Amino acid sequence: MKLADHNRVFRPLGAFGLTLAILATIPLLSASEALAAQDDPSLIEVPQMDAERGKDLFAERGCVVCHTVNNVGGDIGPSLDASNIEQSRNPFEFFARMWRGADAMLHLQRADLGYQVDFSGQDLADIYAFVQNSEAQESFTEANLPDHIKEIIDNGPSIPKN
Ligand code: HEC
Repeated sequence: MKLADHNRVFRPLGAFGLTLAILATIPLLSASEALAAQDDPSLIEVPQMDAERGKDLFAERGCVVCHTVNNVGGDIGPSLDASNIEQSRNPFEFFARMWRGADAMLHLQRADLGYQVDFSGQDLADIYAFVQNSEAQESFTEANLPDHIKEIIDNGPSIPKN
């Protein structure tokens, strides 16, 4: 290949390659910044929690089918009265314990609701606020239960056979 030809072929490629190389470092830099940010616990976001909204979700998403609050609900799982759940101050502990009931929950949801209940982070935060707020729990009554949930409780919920 003559020098002139060589330059014609590789010069533009060289400039292009350099541009690519520069572009490639940008996401790398921001990825390392993101990693540094993850190491800073003060950047963990805890959502605002709304116990009143949590009260509605507790009924509507079916927790109440298996757990009582203020003597309303079923007794397949332990009562979630704020006064008698000692883990309630630690959300991680709370959801770790809830995970142990996952088999029963998923079975019930598929069998009695016909679908698997979906939660956003905000939904879980609000439910968590409700289960540790005795004031919000005192006003929890049968009147808070949507009809389809009341029906499942009245008909006897499906629980997995061991
Ligand atoms: C179909 C029944 C069922 C439904 C519905 C259900 N749970 Fe449970 N849950 C259980 C059972 C059973 C356990 C006990 C599991 C174990 O410890 O073996 C449990 C355990 C828990 C625990 C741990 C309690 C403790 O003191 O250790 C929490 C917290 C919990 N569930 C929260 C919820 C929430 C919140 C919902 C609604 C989103 C929900 N559960 C819906 C059956 C259910």
